[in-house]
Order: sequence, then structure tokens, then C-alpha cells
Amino acid sequence: MGFSKDFVWGAATSSYQIEGAAFEDGKGRSVWDVFSHTKGKILDNSTGDVACDHYHKFKEDVKLMADLGLKAYRFSISWARIMPTGTGDVNEAGVKFYSDLIDELLKYGIEPYVTLYHWDLPYDLHTQGGWLNDKMPDIFAEYAAVCADMFKGRVKNVLTFNEPQVFIGLGYMQGTHAPGLLLGQEELLHISHNVLKAHGKAARVLREKIPNVKIGFACASSPRCPVTDKDIPAAAADYFACDSNNFIFTDAMWLDPIFFGKYPEQLVKDCGEDLTRHIADGDMEIIKTGLDFVGLNIYRGFFVKADENGKAVPQAFPAGVTVTALTWEVVPESLYWGPRLINERYKAPIIITENGMAAHDCVSVDGKVHDPNRIDFLHRYIREYRRAADDGVECLAYFQWSLMDNYEWAYGYTGRFGMVYVDLQTCERIPKDSAYWYKTVIESNGENL
Ligand code: NOJ
Repeated sequence: MGFSKDFVWGAATSSYQIEGAAFEDGKGRSVWDVFSHTKGKILDNSTGDVACDHYHKFKEDVKLMADLGLKAYRFSISWARIMPTGTGDVNEAGVKFYSDLIDELLKYGIEPYVTLYHWDLPYDLHTQGGWLNDKMPDIFAEYAAVCADMFKGRVKNVLTFNEPQVFIGLGYMQGTHAPGLLLGQEELLHISHNVLKAHGKAARVLREKIPNVKIGFACASSPRCPVTDKDIPAAAADYFACDSNNFIFTDAMWLDPIFFGKYPEQLVKDCGEDLTRHIADGDMEIIKTGLDFVGLNIYRGFFVKADENGKAVPQAFPAGVTVTALTWEVVPESLYWGPRLINERYKAPIIITENGMAAHDCVSVDGKVHDPNRIDFLHRYIREYRRAADDGVECLAYFQWSLMDNYEWAYGYTGRFGMVYVDLQTCERIPKDSAYWYKTVIESNGENL
């Protein structure tokens, strides 16, 4: 069976990681502009001030995407670029940049998939309490309305949030991402609730303003892979378990309210008023938007076996397991079990909104970038995704992370995720071997895997 005829092949990026021009043309500061300039926060002390200079090179980049045969491009909008303080005034230069980018993509027949929030909160909003501020859902909806007007019927696929698990977990709980806070349970639940409400309000605005828009939400997903078929129920139960210890990093914390209009039962039992005092009448109806597709960012997963009580037991990785440059284990099966189990629970189509690997890529003496390890990684993972499609999961699209090497947050520029190599001194782009390989996958709609 394989991928459907209209399956969409693309690549993904985000604003702070590639754009640069951090202080140009009226853009306001974001929490990442401030965090990356704070001593000791970033592994190589680098910032996204220039990054890949995509802001100035976007035409070259879109041409490259077309040459590589991409059908779609997932990017995010820097909120502070179009609304410097996050609310009120609109920066026309910022709007023009995204508007021109969309036109350029459409000129080559490349479908834009736009993420509204990929972590770069306007700094002014942060100083007003950021996601702890109960006005944030309405402020986010105002921003969504500006985006919808800017799209002018040219964008059909919009993701409200990217990985709340990571921007809240690392940014507000562990303090290793912007804004670098170490908050406790109640505040984390409060933030999560405001983010979900912001999603709900924005989704309504988008649906009102963009006829037939497809709305998604991208989760940082860590699928449980059953070792044998009899371990499947335990794997599913563990994947969707959500309680006071793990809620931030689960998918159920976000997708249960969005699809079912309620928080997972165990979480409510565990947290009681820490959670319920933030839920006003009508909130859960606002949040329960459903989704036209679930976005899954999957890089790895782990294997589980059921014990005699049917409870999942995580299996340790064997010594010498293959890992990427960021020491993430290579688990291709995660691209089968993630889509399958999420689709079974939420009955919605799946898009892999991110998948890929970091490597220590370099330019060889022949001037090319050879990355056989990435080709092998992608080959194994995409084949598993195709197996999910074969087994009846509605798989709509696949986005490789990332189009080009970029700013990997607290890792700075130490891990290269791109299908296109970027010389960080000159910003020259060199497609890696894997980019040409991916082109053949696209041409054959995944049949050559
Ligand atoms: C998830 C994030 O969305 C993206 O920003 C990040 O670079 C990749 N994963 C790799 O860590």
C-alpha cells in the first residue's frame, strides 16, 4: 500500500534557529534573544543573532528547496518580528518578510505549513508574567488573527504550538531553555492550562478567518515500542500515562484536553486544586478543538515489555546502541508505534512534523558533505513510518528536521541536523548527500525504501 498518492514530503525549521536579523527592521526581542546572550546558558556561547541569515537569504533557500524536490516547508513565525511587544502594534517589515516568503514558496509549488509558536515569546510579554499571565490566551489569539490576515488565503496548514513539553519542561521547569526558570508543580500546571487555552482561542480565530484551514499541534513524542505483540496494551498504557511526576513531558497532557475536553484522570487525582483552581467555567470547551492532524516530532523512543500484571517495564538499551551526535539512541520503530498508537487513541490523521538526526558533519576534501549515517537513519525511520501507513494509519506528511544546520538551542551550533550543510562563518549552503538521497525518496513517494 505505502504512502498515499497525495502524501506530502517536506522539511522543517523554526524562526530563531535560522533567521538571524535578530535586531533588524523593527523586530522586538524575544526570550531567546535575551537567554542566548546570558553568559553560561549556551554550550558554545553562541547566539541566534545571525544564525543561517535566512532573513536575508530566504530566496536562495526556497530555490534550494525546489531543487531538492520538496513539496512542503514547515517554518515558524517570530512573534516579536511581526508584533515587537507581542500585542498591539504590527511591524510591517516583519509582515512583509513572511508574506514574501510565502509568495516565494508558492511560486515553486511548495506548500507552507506554518507554526505560530516555536518558543520565541516576545520578551515584553515575558516581563508581564509570560505564560503565567491569564491574559495570554487572548493575547495569543490576537497574534493568531494578525497571522491569519497576513496569510491572505495562501496558507492552508497551521500549527498553533510546537512542543509545549520542551518549552515548558526545559524553559520553566528545568531552566536550561529560555526563559530559564525553575518553577514548581502549580505554576507549571497554570502555564500549561494557559497554553492550552491559547491553543483553543487561536484555533477558533484561525477557523473563522481561514476557510477550510487544517489545524495541528506538534508534540515532542517519545513512543513506547512493544517488544512483542503481547506487550502492545502495556506500551499504549505507558505512552498515555500522565500523572504529577511526568505530565509536562507526556502527549496525553496536551492531546487529551484538546480531543476529549478533559485532563487525564490520574493527573487530576494527583494534583487536585493545584490544577483545578486554574480552570474556569467554559475553559475545557475552549480547549476541546480537536485537530485536523496530530503533529509528532519523533527522534527516538524506547522498548517496553509487559510484566505479569500487564504493566510496562522499560527495557535498557544494549551496550553500544547506535546514538546520534547528541547521544540520542536510534530507534526506527518509534516512527511506527508513535503514529499507530496516537492514531488509535485520538482517531486523527498523523503528520511527522519533525524527524532527523544530529551528526558531526563536515566538508570533505572533494568539497561535498558525505553523511551516510543520516541516509541510513532516515531510511530506517521512514520505512517504519511507511509500515504504519501500510497498517492503515492515516499518514499525511513527513517533515525532515531540518532543512539546514541551525541553532540547536542550548547546544548552540554543536549538533548539525540539516539536510543542507551551513558554513557558519560565511553562511554558504551545501546540500549533503542525504539531501540528494531524500530527493529520490520524494520522487518515488517512498517506494524506493
Ligand atoms: C525539536 C524542536 O522543535 C526543534 O526546535 C529542535 O531543533 C529539534 N527538536 C532537535 O532537537
